[in-house]
Amino acid sequence: MTTPWWQTCVIYQIYPRSFQDTNDDGIGDLRGIARRLDYLVGLGVDAIWISPIYPSPMVDFGYDIADYCDVDPSFGVLADFDNLLVQAHRRGLKVLLDLVPNHSSDQHPWFAESRASRESQKRDWYIWRDPAPGGGPPNNWISDFGGSAWQWDEATGQYYYHAFLREQPDLNWRHPAVQAAMYDVMRFWFDRGVDGFRIDVLWHMVKAADFPDNPPNPAYRFGMGEMHRLLQRHSTDQPEVHRIAAEMREIADSYGARGQGARVLIGEIYLPVDRLMHYYGGERPEMHLPFNFQLIDTPWQARVLAAVIANYEAVLPPGGWPNWVLGNHDRPRVAARLGQAQARIAAVLLLTLRGTPTLYYGDELGLTDVVIESSDVRDPRELREPGLALGRDPVRTPMPWDDSENAGFSAVRPWLPLHADWSTRNVTRMAEDPQSILALYRRLTALRRDRRALSIGSFVLLNVQDDILVYERRHAAERLVVALNLGERPHRLQLPEWVRDSRLLLSTAEDAALVEDGVLLLGSNEAVVLEAG
Ligand code: NOJ
Repeated sequence: MTTPWWQTCVIYQIYPRSFQDTNDDGIGDLRGIARRLDYLVGLGVDAIWISPIYPSPMVDFGYDIADYCDVDPSFGVLADFDNLLVQAHRRGLKVLLDLVPNHSSDQHPWFAESRASRESQKRDWYIWRDPAPGGGPPNNWISDFGGSAWQWDEATGQYYYHAFLREQPDLNWRHPAVQAAMYDVMRFWFDRGVDGFRIDVLWHMVKAADFPDNPPNPAYRFGMGEMHRLLQRHSTDQPEVHRIAAEMREIADSYGARGQGARVLIGEIYLPVDRLMHYYGGERPEMHLPFNFQLIDTPWQARVLAAVIANYEAVLPPGGWPNWVLGNHDRPRVAARLGQAQARIAAVLLLTLRGTPTLYYGDELGLTDVVIESSDVRDPRELREPGLALGRDPVRTPMPWDDSENAGFSAVRPWLPLHADWSTRNVTRMAEDPQSILALYRRLTALRRDRRALSIGSFVLLNVQDDILVYERRHAAERLVVALNLGERPHRLQLPEWVRDSRLLLSTAEDAALVEDGVLLLGSNEAVVLEAG
C-alpha cells in the first residue's frame, strides 16, 4: 500500500490578500501566487491551502462569500485560478481551497431572496426566528465577534442568526436544499481540479433544533472576548453535523480516494481533543485531517508539550492520521509567542512530529505580530471589541520578498503595513544566510522528504525533563532521534545505547551539538536530529 500524499505532505497556508500583488492595488492576487510557486517548491512544501478567493464584500476579508463559484475581482478571474492550478500541478504542488459552508455574505443572492419575505422559497435556507416571548432576541447566543448572534430584520419582523458578523448570516444546514447547493459548490471546484478543501468552522454548522439558551462559562474573565461568556453547548458540535461531514467526504472520495489522486478534507474545528476525534468519523469516514491546533495553545514547556503529544497520539482513532499546526490567519504568530530562538525549535518540532504539518505563510521567515496603529485597523474582530488584542491584522501583514520598495509585495502601499525589519527579514536576504530560519525550514522539509521515518515513522517519547524533549522516529531500518532544548541552558544528555553511534543530520545551531561517548551536548536553544547507526 502506498501512503497517500496528504499523510506525507507539508501544507502551506496562503492568505491571498497578503502574499503577492501583481496589479498594483496593494492587495495580493492569484497571479501573485502563481508567480511565487517556485519559491514554494524551493521551500519544500507539497500543498497550498489558499484562504477564500471568492467574490465577497470583504467585511470579513473573504469569509463572507457572495458567490461560491467565482473569483473576487481583487484576486483575479476564474481563468487566473485555472492557470494557477495548472502551474501548481505542473510543479507537483497540490491546491486546497477554503470552503465556507456555515455562512454566506448577506450580499449573497440566496440571502437576498431569503430576507425578501417570509414566503420566499429560500426563507428556510437561513435561520429565522420570532422574537422571544417578552421581546428581544430568540435566545442568549453570542456572536463569536461579540454582541448578540441575532439580527433583527424590520421588513419581515424576524431575527436571523449569525455566528460571526451580521453580514455573515448562517445557512440552515438542516435544509436539504442547502446541503445540495453546497455539495454542488464542492463539485464545481473538484471538477476544476482542486485537490481538497479546508472547511471553515465545521463544528458550527448545525445548531440544536430547539435553540435553547447556552449556559454561562464559569471560566469567563474580562478580556477573553464576549463570546466566552457562554459555553457554546447548543450552538456548536451537534451530533447531526457528522452526517454532513460524512456526505462531504463521500463527494471528495468520489473524485479520488487513494494515491496521488486523493481529494482531501481538512476540518477547522476548535474543540477539546476528545470531541475533535469524532470528526475523523465513525462508521462513515469524515475529515481526513481535523485540524489539531494544540501547539498554538499549549504553554511552551517540555512536560506539558510531551503530555499533549502523548495524549493526542493515544486518543487518535484507529486509522486516524495525526496533524499539527503552529499558526494561522486567526491566531498570534509562533515567533511572537515564543521569540525568534524558540521559533526555530518549534519549526523542528512541527516538521518532526508524526502527522501532517501545516505551515502559515511568513512563519518560515520568523515574522512576528505587527503593531497596527488604530487608524490602520482593518479586522472586524478588532473593530468590534477593540483593545483586547483579539484583532488578526497583526498576523496578516504582507509577505516580504526583498528589500525593494514595499518589500517586493506591491508597487503601491500595501493594504496592511509591513513589519518594521522587512528590509532584512525578507525572502531574498534570508535565502542567502545559511543560518536563517528560512534556511532551517528548507533543511527540515528536505530531511523530511529524505527520511520516511520523519513523515510516516512511529513516534516514541524518550526523555522529558526541564527544558528537554527527546523522541524517536522510526521506520523500517531508519531510526532517528529528535532532541529539543526549549531553554537557554545547555544540557548534557545520556543517549540510549542504540543511538550511541549516531550521525548528526540537522542542528538549529551554527556550532552544532556534539555527541561524545554516548552523551549529547545540546546547546542553548538548540534542536538536533540524529540518525542511529
Ligand atoms: C474562521 C476563519 O478562520 C476566520 O478567519 C473567520 O473570521 C471565521 N471563520 C468566520 O468565517
